[in-house]
Amino acid sequence: MGREQDVDKGGIVVVSKTVSPATKRSLEVLKRRSNYSLSFGSDVMSDPSVLDVDDVVAVVVPVPHERDKVAELAQMIREAAPTVLVCGSIDVPDQRLWLLAERSGFNLVSSDGAIGGALLRRLASSDSGRREAIAVMDSSDSAGRLGLLGTFDVDGKSVAIWRSGGRLGCLENACTHSGAALSEGEVEEGVVTCPRHGSRFDICSGERVRGPADTDVAHYDIFDKDGRIWVVPS
Ligand code: FES
Repeated sequence: MGREQDVDKGGIVVVSKTVSPATKRSLEVLKRRSNYSLSFGSDVMSDPSVLDVDDVVAVVVPVPHERDKVAELAQMIREAAPTVLVCGSIDVPDQRLWLLAERSGFNLVSSDGAIGGALLRRLASSDSGRREAIAVMDSSDSAGRLGLLGTFDVDGKSVAIWRSGGRLGCLENACTHSGAALSEGEVEEGVVTCPRHGSRFDICSGERVRGPADTDVAHYDIFDKDGRIWVVPS
């Protein structure tokens, strides 16, 4: 199935085998109230090329009910288009599915009929609505290195970047328990241990793996492209 219209600037792409009427109505309202174009493409899982368009600022997909597909879908979109907002609509009141989607890398999760309004507010919260990536280091400086790659200032926040467990991860460099620098902790198999009291966090999602911290750490999308390592401020 092709797109119903081309995205020429400031586009929002909806990718799905089936788009619910509530999602469609909600996004049509968004389109009428903003300058973003709207197009509908085929299922991104079977055809990632639907994301191969210029100036896409957001992608909307239904969050899969099969839980093991949620992270896979978020990752696939993120790899194909690192700077887009990944938005998921949920058609059932399932809080665990909602949390799983947020932890898996969806930037915005909303119920079906509310996705247009939620996305409009999110896009209005920055000047352009776009997620701009910031280059923090040359890929060659990180080649072959494991563990902490460095700490950087991104949009006024100190962040730490690691490569571990075959993944790149970027977290705010402050433990949510009492603020210790996570960059000074040990990292193993994609999990960093806080040097002060031993809380553990996934380096990609920021998910708390072990306390005493009660909450996750803020995570940043990160990717390696064109010879640079890029971080996308939230
Ligand atoms: S400051 Fe990190 S666990 Fe206490």
